[in-house]
Amino acid sequence: NPLLTTRELGRTLHCHATLASTNELAFRLAHEGAEHGEVVVAEQQTAGKGRRGRAWVSPPGLNLYFSAILRPELPPQHAPELTLVAAVALAEALREAGAEAAIKWPNDVQIDGRKVAGILTELSAEPERVHFVVLGIGVNLNARREHFPEELQETATSLALELGQPVPRAAFAAALWLRLEEWLARHQETGFGPVRQRWKELSCTLGQDVLVRTARLEFQGKAEDVDESGALLVRTSGGTLERVLAGDVEQLRP
Ligand code: BTN
Repeated sequence: NPLLTTRELGRTLHCHATLASTNELAFRLAHEGAEHGEVVVAEQQTAGKGRRGRAWVSPPGLNLYFSAILRPELPPQHAPELTLVAAVALAEALREAGAEAAIKWPNDVQIDGRKVAGILTELSAEPERVHFVVLGIGVNLNARREHFPEELQETATSLALELGQPVPRAAFAAALWLRLEEWLARHQETGFGPVRQRWKELSCTLGQDVLVRTARLEFQGKAEDVDESGALLVRTSGGTLERVLAGDVEQLRP
């Protein structure tokens, strides 16, 4: 890709026509010693994985599906921050392309309330040390309505649908990877502070009335902030502040 200006990210590329999941191959390559910054890309995925055991619809030729192998110097408990780093880079790249992208906590990237991209981070670590992180990103670039299954028609979109014109894939990938490399470096050097700040600016969740679903419970409240570890702070109608580290939020329309 002659458009690529990164130093490390995507300099070694593993390109495949069809994979079950780029995350799966990246995990295996990392396990076998692949280096920081190596990226696996597929034209289509037959078993694309989403968060919480969901599938990621991955038709051929239209969209971007990739997984980056990262070897950050980071204590394992800080690894979840990388997902927010990626969300910030994604939202910025989509804005640079001309769309009004925003982040729905924790890391769905949306345009006009519809999901355009998703992030799935997988970690190999010991209690004291991160071996590697696989950062998997799917971006709906050129999918048209008919490419989305019935149940996603209302909730999913693509960048091309929003812009009203096709999106060149190599150029978008190059721009995204550069942003990603920059934000990863900033995170490595100065910690989560600046990422959290930028995440808040790009968020469409803060200030909203939300319905929160975690593994344990379901409740409503107002999303007030993200804390220094990326957890969402939600003020319930009873006035208590709940800290949500993992879960789903649904924006409630007024
Ligand atoms: C989500 O929002 O649920 C996360 C979706 C992540 C999809 C990407 S596509 C490339 C990489 N390979 C996978 O199997 N999943 C991620």
